[in-house]
Amino acid sequence: MLSKKMTAAFNGQVAAELYSSYLYISMSAWLQSEGFPGAANWMGLQAREEVYHAQKLYNHILERGGQVKLGAIEAPPFKWKTPLEVFEQAYAHEQKVTGLINNLMSMAKAESDHASEIFLQWFVTEQVEEEATALDVVQKFKLAAGGAGFFMIDQELGARVLSQIVKDALTGTVASSN
Ligand SMILES: [Fe+2]
Ligand SMILES: [Fe+2]
Repeated sequence: MLSKKMTAAFNGQVAAELYSSYLYISMSAWLQSEGFPGAANWMGLQAREEVYHAQKLYNHILERGGQVKLGAIEAPPFKWKTPLEVFEQAYAHEQKVTGLINNLMSMAKAESDHASEIFLQWFVTEQVEEEATALDVVQKFKLAAGGAGFFMIDQELGARVLSQIVKDALTGTVASSN
């Protein structure tokens, strides 16, 4: 069974993942309105992955006999200057989330909550990927420095598709998101 402290921390992480989704939906809308449909597609899929992360967390809370208690989600920003700035902020946000996951892991270790440690390992690995993919796009936009280069990167980002695991979890074709 999850301790009260771990339950509260996991509930906090559910809200953080849903905020990530909210932020990326907002970024996706801005990108779309500014004429970057490919980058908007990329960010829209990222938003759905964040819902998948939240789903994984609340499944863990429930499986461990904890109570899911959803908190408030603050409003995200809605305006940026360039697609580069959008992805720089997304990258910074992912680094923040990595810190939150690390805190959760430290808490699980301190409580000798081995089940949560094993569960959180997936998120530790996922954050390496999340930071790397955001940084990759930042570097692409930096190299392009606007104009036709931005257009080409946008085309490339438009090719992103949702992974089958996330798709199945979000459409309910599998019982659990694990
Ligand atoms: Fe996430
Ligand atoms: Fe993320």
